Amino acid sequence: MHSVLGWSKASLMLCLKVPTDPSWAPAALAAIETMLIDHAHCELKAASNAMSLIARHPDDGVIVKALIELAKDELQHFERVVTFLAGRGLSLRTPEVDTYAAELRKSAGRLPRDQEVNSLVDRLLVAAVIEARSCERFKLLLDHWTIDDDALRAFYQELFACEAKHYRVLCDLALYASGGRASKVEARLAALVACEGQIVTAIANNGSRATVHG
Ligand SMILES: [Fe+2]
Ligand SMILES: [Fe+2]
Repeated sequence: MHSVLGWSKASLMLCLKVPTDPSWAPAALAAIETMLIDHAHCELKAASNAMSLIARHPDDGVIVKALIELAKDELQHFERVVTFLAGRGLSLRTPEVDTYAAELRKSAGRLPRDQEVNSLVDRLLVAAVIEARSCERFKLLLDHWTIDDDALRAFYQELFACEAKHYRVLCDLALYASGGRASKVEARLAALVACEGQIVTAIANNGSRATVHG
């Protein structure tokens, strides 16, 4: 599948309207083990979201093929975070409530939708926005890195590139799923990003937490 819109040329960071609060990265690094547990669950949720979209659209070969690749990446990321946790003597535990993703899905459900923006387009764009924010946060971790663990640092460098790729793949798939209606997809992405900015601001106002989207 080729990018029709040229998303790959678009700056990832330009997708997000609100930068992460400066207090987030130091808080996340200071509680890296809590952060890693949350991160593992984020990867697992990204894999299961891709697999659930495959199950809902089994006859669409383009969607199935692209999301199998994405789910494989996310499951491998999950496995690697679990390995980092095990190396620190930690188990997965039960995740904290993911307010960010829950609020983003709620906001998407409340936004009026054009016909071309079907539920598949919407779910792909919501997933794309989550990838963009994760990517921004991994970069912030790297910029503020204070942990004595080179392997973990290298892992976040690798993830930064991989989650940016997922953002582009999901945007391309949303465009495909809309039947190539670029302006509708761009407008929907902009609306979702605006909602996401409000959610991130509200979460930051409650105090930064050591979670990927906290
Ligand atoms: Fe991932
Ligand atoms: Fe991803």
